[in-house]
Amino acid sequence: MKKEIVLTGIKTTGTPHLGNYVGAIRPAVEASKNSDVEAFYFLADYHSIISCHNPKEIQESSMQVAATWLASGLDPEKVFFYRQSDIPEIPELTWILNCMAAKGLMNRAHSYKASVAQNEENNAKDPDKGITMGLYSYPVLMAADILMFRANKVPVGKDQIQHIEMARDIAGRFNHHYKKHFVLPEAVVGEDVAVLSGLDGRKMSKSYNNIIPLFAPEKKLRKLIMKIKTNSLEPGEPKDAEGCTLFEIFQAFASKDDIEDVKNRYAEGIAWGEMKQYLFEYLNNHLSPLREKYNELIEKPEYIEDILLKGQQKARERSIPFLKSLREAIGISPIK
Ligand code: TRP
Repeated sequence: MKKEIVLTGIKTTGTPHLGNYVGAIRPAVEASKNSDVEAFYFLADYHSIISCHNPKEIQESSMQVAATWLASGLDPEKVFFYRQSDIPEIPELTWILNCMAAKGLMNRAHSYKASVAQNEENNAKDPDKGITMGLYSYPVLMAADILMFRANKVPVGKDQIQHIEMARDIAGRFNHHYKKHFVLPEAVVGEDVAVLSGLDGRKMSKSYNNIIPLFAPEKKLRKLIMKIKTNSLEPGEPKDAEGCTLFEIFQAFASKDDIEDVKNRYAEGIAWGEMKQYLFEYLNNHLSPLREKYNELIEKPEYIEDILLKGQQKARERSIPFLKSLREAIGISPIK
């Protein structure tokens, strides 16, 4: 039986944080252990250059993201783990898909519309001010990532569902016109994965500047946890666990028994300082072994490169012949 293909991309901007780990990395690593699926996980570095024009940051973030996934237990032998920019068939397919993607469809993309709305709010003369073709056609590159490897399931956050629907739409048009070459992908949104809040209580996100880096050194981790916003209830006053950022983060890492125990301590009025110290120790115990591995890996960029290049080879065994058949389908000769 043909295995189901699960694929997802990780943008390489910034340093992975606790929210990324709980919401994406940990469930993806778990899913990759299922031998009934083929998992494709890749570094979406061509997506990153849309918003980040700092070469050093792109390079460093690629290494950090790769090391994070490996330290979190991803087995590169069992999955396809590669860098988007190492697969030249992807940008080539992007062009082919561009010629099947309706411009009107792209006009409706949330992220593009948000940028236009921002310009209008600022009374810019041109509503497209500062918007590149890269941002505009972001969903087409993403469609190429997905369609290239005939993914059935694409685990993503809610904000990405529209992009998967666009990939389906483009694939459908292509299939209708040139016969059925593409598999229509489906978005999978993990309903049971936690969305963590950050230091200020809003969703943990690089853009809110409220993150806790996953592998922050011990001291820094403690310092950040101490900064998490709480209310002004005094020690001894009963506290609500639900809706509390400290509890939410704790819950994402703790066992059932420990969660029950802490809930009771909230009801008994645990002091915020005590809870923060407890959360720090709990997280630190959990993350230390991974952090150690991460630190080892990040010191050995050649080793990470080697893994990514093996991933490239494995992935191109699929992308090269598939692109060849697509070129044929649209009447473009093979490269001599
Ligand atoms: N756009 C995704 C994000 O911002 C990253 C991404 C790029 C992706 N290509 C993809 C996700 C393909 C799933 C499939 O998170």
